[in-house]
Amino acid sequence: MEIQHPANLRHQKLRKWVEKMAALCKPDRVYWCDGSQKEYDDLCALMVKNGTFIKLNEEKRPNSYLAFSHPSDVARVEDRTFICSVSKSDAGPTNNWIDPHEMHATLDRLFDGAMRGRTMYVIPFSMGPLGSFLSQIGVQITDSPYVVVNMRIMTRMGSAVLDVLGEDGNFVPCMHTVGAPLAPGEQDVPWPCNPTVKYIVHFPEERSIWSYGSGYGGNALLGKKCLALRIASVIARDEGWLAEHMLILGVENPRGEKVYVAGAFPSACGKTNFAMLIPPPAFQERGWKVTTVGDDIAWIKLGKDGRLYAINPESGYFGVAPGTSMKTNPNAMIACSHDTIFTNVALLPDGDVWWEGMTKEPPPEAIDWQRKHWTPDSGRPAAHPNARFTAPAVNNPALDPDWENPNGVPISAFIFGGRRATTMPLVVQATSWVNGVYMAATMGSEMTAAAFGKVGTVRRDPFAMLPFAGYHMADYINHWLDFGRNIPYPPRIFSVNWFRTDEHGNFIWPGFSENMRVLKWIVDRVHGHGASVESPLGWMPRYEEIDWTGLDFSREQFNAIMSVDREAWKQEILSHEELFIRLYDRLPKEMIFVKELLLSALWRSPERWEVEFRLK
Ligand code: OXD
Ligand code: MN
Repeated sequence: MEIQHPANLRHQKLRKWVEKMAALCKPDRVYWCDGSQKEYDDLCALMVKNGTFIKLNEEKRPNSYLAFSHPSDVARVEDRTFICSVSKSDAGPTNNWIDPHEMHATLDRLFDGAMRGRTMYVIPFSMGPLGSFLSQIGVQITDSPYVVVNMRIMTRMGSAVLDVLGEDGNFVPCMHTVGAPLAPGEQDVPWPCNPTVKYIVHFPEERSIWSYGSGYGGNALLGKKCLALRIASVIARDEGWLAEHMLILGVENPRGEKVYVAGAFPSACGKTNFAMLIPPPAFQERGWKVTTVGDDIAWIKLGKDGRLYAINPESGYFGVAPGTSMKTNPNAMIACSHDTIFTNVALLPDGDVWWEGMTKEPPPEAIDWQRKHWTPDSGRPAAHPNARFTAPAVNNPALDPDWENPNGVPISAFIFGGRRATTMPLVVQATSWVNGVYMAATMGSEMTAAAFGKVGTVRRDPFAMLPFAGYHMADYINHWLDFGRNIPYPPRIFSVNWFRTDEHGNFIWPGFSENMRVLKWIVDRVHGHGASVESPLGWMPRYEEIDWTGLDFSREQFNAIMSVDREAWKQEILSHEELFIRLYDRLPKEMIFVKELLLSALWRSPERWEVEFRLK
């Protein structure tokens, strides 16, 4: 097939790869994406015509579209995600592994002719600002126009990337097909995918990605979880930096001092809400400001001044829609008010969208994500629990002025937090880097519908990277320890938990904007102002050390979410042990020593340690 390559393609290896992949996949045509607005608009119009997209009401949601996926294709598929390192032990016990030769043979067979009847799109993209020393280039080949338009929001995509790549720049090849070739004359469906065969495959040594059968989210937008986390974590280990599942936010105090913090939370813990936090009125009045650099991924390198600098490699938000409202996250609501792609939310009769939690009262009727008529008593959700909005970062009113700074922003603190009804206090500061690494490595989260696992059980999710580390989890923990050894001024490490409940199962902590009170203490600690007491787990604020202006939250309530219960921690440590046994062959010895010290601290303390105890 004759391929029309772009005039500025000077990279022979890339040209050859595209030709080889076209020969394998046998599409009807090959199209190089230039990343222009016109190309985006044309592809959206094409998808409206073929039924993939519904154009939303132009007055209510300007330039926005809605897609409904196939019911078999609604989320990342962790059980179909593979790390195919040469040696099985390098993938570690927490990743699926298949021998890379065997996997290549499988993929060659699956991709052979997989794009018949379709267009093969070639998407050059940069994760991170174009040309930044912190950025990485990828080239995704896909037969999904839905993927192309989403990639244009989520990455810096198009022709300019080829100029940065030049003749011999490095790029990560990312192969993707929905796995649904069309026979001659066969009518396409609105959401082509392969309902039975899905593979999300990473070859860490080759630094390549192959994804088959899914058109949804992290399975298909390969710049995000596949490149920016799984492959980047391998590159980061080899080159001595960090690729993390972290939000980045800026906090400015009334004195105008600004610090940036990076936070890792497992999926479904409100990461986007925290990244876009609006301080409570009493804080705003005094001049506290929070700005967003990123909501999902952070790439972090050591700067020449001995501080850590981070970029958000993405340029948009692929946020979970259900639960997002003007109350929980006004900035996200504004970000997706125009120029947004929605997937699997409900369609209203007036051509706008709706999802559970968006309004107090549900609408009287809608078309649900399965294209069925829906009313509030249908007995099923109108939006899929993992329904998404893809919104450009520039739509976020709280976007940090330095969000695209090619040198990154300096990171002063790391925050780790899971969803825990019991055991974990609202906030605690690790006493050292090694203690912080232990906290992060043993982090756990209770499963919700949108996440993976049995609802209600705690899944150990080290650094919130369990589904995203491209190599052995114990080596990953070791990499953090090693990285810390070379930082002259390591950022402070904190653990938070917004989700502790009372005996009736109600959340005690109000969360959302009120998380600012915890963030203030964290920032105060960074500035060296905040006071604290030593608990068995680390440094904790007393009731007096949290700013309560404008919130009615009692000392008793505070105690309830800060207490450290020895019995609960005994179980907790047993569960840490389970993780350590899984990682046994490569676990850094520091984890065992810190665990011993933690046990010793718990046994030195009262059975139920309370912050107030020290005040009596
Ligand atoms: C996400 C996830 O979609 O972590 O960001 O699952
Ligand atoms: Mn995520």
